[in-house]
Amino acid sequence: MSHPTPPYVPRIRDPRTPIIVAIDGPAAAGKSSTARWVSERLGFYHIDSGALYRAATVAVLRASPEGSQWDESDVLRAAQRVSTRDEGRAFVLLVDGVELEQEMRGGAVTQHVSRVAQMRGVRDWVNTQVRTLAKGRSVVVDGRDIGTVVFPEAHLKIFLIADPWERARRRLIQRLGRSPADQEIAEETERLVQRDARDSTQTVQSKDAVLIDTTYLTQAEQVERIVALVKVLR
Ligand code: DC
Repeated sequence: MSHPTPPYVPRIRDPRTPIIVAIDGPAAAGKSSTARWVSERLGFYHIDSGALYRAATVAVLRASPEGSQWDESDVLRAAQRVSTRDEGRAFVLLVDGVELEQEMRGGAVTQHVSRVAQMRGVRDWVNTQVRTLAKGRSVVVDGRDIGTVVFPEAHLKIFLIADPWERARRRLIQRLGRSPADQEIAEETERLVQRDARDSTQTVQSKDAVLIDTTYLTQAEQVERIVALVKVLR
């Protein structure tokens, strides 16, 4: 499959046009942290679509902690308790008016979120939220299907990948705050590969996405590449 290179990124003629940058890719490829950094560099908003799936999962787990007992209608009912607060360049997610962050990244949510993200109605709910938040703004949106389903018209689409071992290593450094042992990386790689399989139907590389393999890039380097591509647009 061929991918467009910078000279082929179409220019935006009207300088007032809000720019949509979509960043997709598998788990732990660094999408959210890269998207946040790119959005800060450009003065755009950052929207993390995975966080909306996680917030809906927090809400349904609070309503009925028995994971196997709830279905799509329960998740959609619980999702009504999710709201957002505009923080200037990003949106904070709230459930029942309370900020989430810690709980959203916890083990129980990570365990159940793939199932929640497979529910058609929940995907429609997240997609509507994302489109509403993005309306009239220049945004960097990260997820799995942003360039294919949510914003097929995005001005720039990035698909971030990295070797599973390297993704596992980075995730562990972030979580443990130290260099992980090979055995720990091997175990985390196994979990990541399983997550990749669970999320594989949603994780789609748009044929007009620019593929960036970050295995041998620093985060600063990958951010610079994306910022440079956005600058080609104007
Ligand atoms: O990126 P993350 O780990 O926070 O994503 C949480 C879950 O949501 C994961 O199972 C993938 C899923 N997801 C999705 O299906 N589509 C998106 N656009 C974003 C996330």
